[in-house]
Amino acid sequence: MIAVTSAAQTGRADYRVVPLPSEINGIKGADFKLTERCLINYPTGNRDLERNAIMLSGYVEELTGIHLATRPTLASSDQPGNITLLLDPSIAGDEDYSITVTPRSVLISGKTAAGVFHGIQVLRQSLPTDPSALINLPAAQVKGSPRFGYRGMHLDCSRHFFGVETVKRYLDIMALHGMNRLHWHLTDDQGWRVEIKKYPRLTEVGGWRDGTVLGHNSPVYDNTRYGGWYTQEEIRDIVNYAAQRYITIIPEIDMPGHMQAALAAYPELGCTGGPYKVWGQWGVSDDILCVGKEETLQFVKDVLDEVMQLFPGEYIHIGGDEAPRVRWQECPRCQQRIHEAGIVAAGKQSAEARLQGWFTTRVQQYLASHGRRIIGWDELLGCDVDTTATIMSWTGAEPGARGAMLGHDVIMTPNTPMYFDHYQTRSYWNEPTAFGGCATLKMVYDFEPVAPDLPAEKRHHILGAQANVWTEYITCEPQIQYQILPRMAALAELQWLQPELKDYQDFKARLPRLVNLYRHYGWTYRSKSLILEDEDKPEK
Ligand code: ACM
Ligand code: ZN
Repeated sequence: MIAVTSAAQTGRADYRVVPLPSEINGIKGADFKLTERCLINYPTGNRDLERNAIMLSGYVEELTGIHLATRPTLASSDQPGNITLLLDPSIAGDEDYSITVTPRSVLISGKTAAGVFHGIQVLRQSLPTDPSALINLPAAQVKGSPRFGYRGMHLDCSRHFFGVETVKRYLDIMALHGMNRLHWHLTDDQGWRVEIKKYPRLTEVGGWRDGTVLGHNSPVYDNTRYGGWYTQEEIRDIVNYAAQRYITIIPEIDMPGHMQAALAAYPELGCTGGPYKVWGQWGVSDDILCVGKEETLQFVKDVLDEVMQLFPGEYIHIGGDEAPRVRWQECPRCQQRIHEAGIVAAGKQSAEARLQGWFTTRVQQYLASHGRRIIGWDELLGCDVDTTATIMSWTGAEPGARGAMLGHDVIMTPNTPMYFDHYQTRSYWNEPTAFGGCATLKMVYDFEPVAPDLPAEKRHHILGAQANVWTEYITCEPQIQYQILPRMAALAELQWLQPELKDYQDFKARLPRLVNLYRHYGWTYRSKSLILEDEDKPEK
């Protein structure tokens, strides 16, 4: 069991939350007393802060049982006896927050509503979770400013499908941890999960598989039909839910590889013409899009047209990982394309590798003509794409540093330790089946996204860090939560804190209070990560 902190017993808030604020300065005077007479004020007519106020009221009620009413106000400063949310243009960063608690009032401000929202999360985490008639907020000035603008989590909903409520809860968990980007992996060999009106078979056929292999590609299948997909209406609802929590969703339509579910629906888009099946096993399929055919290029544009309608953010993730070129080597159309486009091998890049670059550049240009930018996996560094492509460094940290040197923006998701489908302990035999690998809580905490030898003028290219949750072996929501909690807490801290403020022992001392919240919300988490010191030691 986790020890109940003294703060919870006394009903006193504790601002030493996760991620740790960058400043907590005590102010002389008595605690502010939070009672049901206290109102949450927001500026009249500001719909974002109104929604923030309602959310804060909800958080306070679910944690303490105290209901606080919300009220529009014309005042532009704190209000005696109340909590006030305000925008403050003098605050530097868009997502910075400032909380001022005095004996008579509480003021939560940010340059933007997103900053105010992050301040609200800090107050939420700092509250004692025991129902109590009286909550004391110590008088203090609390400030925070995220180190990185991109603070992501990824979720694979192709290998296993998770319904709207699960995705929303994932967003709730992200919001609590101060994160702002959900990378949503919507298509893969094992299932196409986003409704595309122009190509209904993508979900009717591509959304379902006849069976799923047991374990790590054993010879045995469950022979059980499995699938599901999101309607466009459901996607819009989720995008809106995320936006209300200041989270941008980046959809991933993985191409030209990891496309077998689409090929099962439209076999004419492959080099051999099929037939293909939605895959029931894990791994990398040799069957990928035939980019020699005009109809494939049209298909991609049509799909992206609908995807752009659904997802208003600037970025579309176009995958690009693990695209074997064996079919292209044999395909007369792909070879014809290589010939007509004048593509030639260069250095270590084969003509087929550069054909992937040619294809990716077409997609990139199409999206750019609609004001969008691409993110792709680090394989793109090996196939001649220009630096307007943002690189997601997954095969390790080195490609990220290399990409930044070349002038690409980069998001750091190296598989060790940023793949949360990997084990959280070296004693993996006691764990639910996972992909493999190992990323302990401490390994996550200690990860540094910016390579130490990256020159100062290249550092701005490292936009941030993200953890990935691939779901070959994750079949249900409690298992997702088990894999991400509490590792997300460690990730949040490295996303927010300047390296010199990080302190693992201090983080572990703060973690039980956050875990109290996980328990309060009924989320599953790996409790051993809180207590096992041996996992903190480096491997012998
Ligand atoms: C990946 O893990 N294939 C990006
Ligand atoms: Zn082909």
